[in-house]
Amino acid sequence: QEDKFKKVIAHAKEYGYIFGSSEIYDGLSAVYDYGQNGAELKKNIREYWWKSMVYMHQNIVGLDAAIFMHPTTWKASGHVDAFNDPLIDNKDSKKRYRADVLVEDFREKINQKIEKDITKAKKRFGDAFNEDEFRSTNPNVLRRQKEIDRITAELTRVQEENDLAGFKQLIEDLGIGCPESGSKNWTDVRQFNLMFGTKLGASAESATDLYLRPETAQGIFVNFLNVQKTGRMKIPFGIAQTGKAFRNEIVARQFIFRMREFEQMEMQFFVRPGEEMKWYEYWKETRLNWHLSLGLGRENYRFHDHDKLAHYANAAADIEFNFPFGFKELEGIHSRTDFDLKAHEEYSGKKLQFFDPELKESYVPYVVETSVGLDRMFLAVFSTALQDEELEDGSSRVVLKLPAVVAPIKAAILPLVKKDGLPEVAEKIVENLKWTFNVAYDEKDAIGRRYRRQDAAGTPICITVDHDTLNDETVTIRDRDTMEQKRVPISELKSIISEKVDP
Ligand code: GAP
Repeated sequence: QEDKFKKVIAHAKEYGYIFGSSEIYDGLSAVYDYGQNGAELKKNIREYWWKSMVYMHQNIVGLDAAIFMHPTTWKASGHVDAFNDPLIDNKDSKKRYRADVLVEDFREKINQKIEKDITKAKKRFGDAFNEDEFRSTNPNVLRRQKEIDRITAELTRVQEENDLAGFKQLIEDLGIGCPESGSKNWTDVRQFNLMFGTKLGASAESATDLYLRPETAQGIFVNFLNVQKTGRMKIPFGIAQTGKAFRNEIVARQFIFRMREFEQMEMQFFVRPGEEMKWYEYWKETRLNWHLSLGLGRENYRFHDHDKLAHYANAAADIEFNFPFGFKELEGIHSRTDFDLKAHEEYSGKKLQFFDPELKESYVPYVVETSVGLDRMFLAVFSTALQDEELEDGSSRVVLKLPAVVAPIKAAILPLVKKDGLPEVAEKIVENLKWTFNVAYDEKDAIGRRYRRQDAAGTPICITVDHDTLNDETVTIRDRDTMEQKRVPISELKSIISEKVDP
């Protein structure tokens, strides 16, 4: 798995998907730049999300709120007081540990043991094996599950009660995730706020302290009434937004999985109080189906229902994805009650209520939120798509089987040779397609090498212009995944590509 992850990172760089930030200065930790193909893939994933939210739902509209917000926003949201993490350093290894990352690692480690138990049992019992039953009755699995629950609960308690001594004791006792377990050489535990601060204003004395938003959600909450009134929205309705968020992650790692500057795609769905559980279930299912529609495989997803909830939530679940380093959170679905809107009412002194014409009463709506990291989606799609394939003739190829709908380049147009007027015809085809699709033109190297290059870059279709094209106005199209080739008229190219890339 580690090997696969290294390949993913190297391939992302080699094919212009992701570069380390400010590389010529040796980079900046946990900050990344998206290259020519990465920017396109990211934009396409964002658009795929946006269309499925805003275009496909009559009662969901978009928003693009600013990254800077009035500082009181973050008092109201709880981020100033509660967006903290206990942090501890090991003086021997100079490593830094953060509570929630430790829990995550611990949970994954034990879950892998459970998976091993299951694989073994499957082999032993064959067809008679029932996984659900095994999970709920096998003493080993139950014991491991109990251990996960206990540690999760204890760490949550430590975080909530700000019990720094308790946190230190816990990692010393268990050595969860730390190779230095047993080492006594720890610093004191400190609280660390994850928000980045900055200043607005010219002179130091008059400047106002601002934060870079740690989530996009608050821009939606403070605009709730603006959108509801001007859009004449009736409950239930949703507001969707994509944009940058910033967190001063203490332990930032695993490539673009945990970054300090990242992008979120969030949707807040405003509902009648008392109806939130119905919508919570609805959005869990709807969001999972959205992920499945990309075709990365059902087995790569699972739900993780939270037993312990954040202060604002009455139900929460993650959609986890099988990344190259194991199952980890990809998206969160949270029933946030009226916590945020009520808090903003209190801090701003403004009412944030909806008059429900059916009930003939005003209330502060409840909120069900779906929140997915765009960079994590990118990593999920990219790492699953990258495959080493053995071919029938004994050779192998590297292919990036990106879902066509999000692939950066939809088609590459290739003249078989660089003469006899073939490049001119190929360029005419490019001219004709380029407003509708992002297409590439490539005339360098033998055709086989060009196919391989497009396979590795993730281009779903290659279009080859040869001498026959000059007589009959047809070209060869080659499918990236099946490598099948067929002859089609140039006049049909637009509709053929559309069929391939439209969801
Ligand atoms: N408004 C709710 C919220 O922000 P969250 O679970 O903190 O909830 C939502 O974040 C999603 O944002 C996560 O599921 C993850 O995909 C993404 N995300 C959070 N922190 C991230 C980071 N440091 N780097 C990349 N993505 C991150």
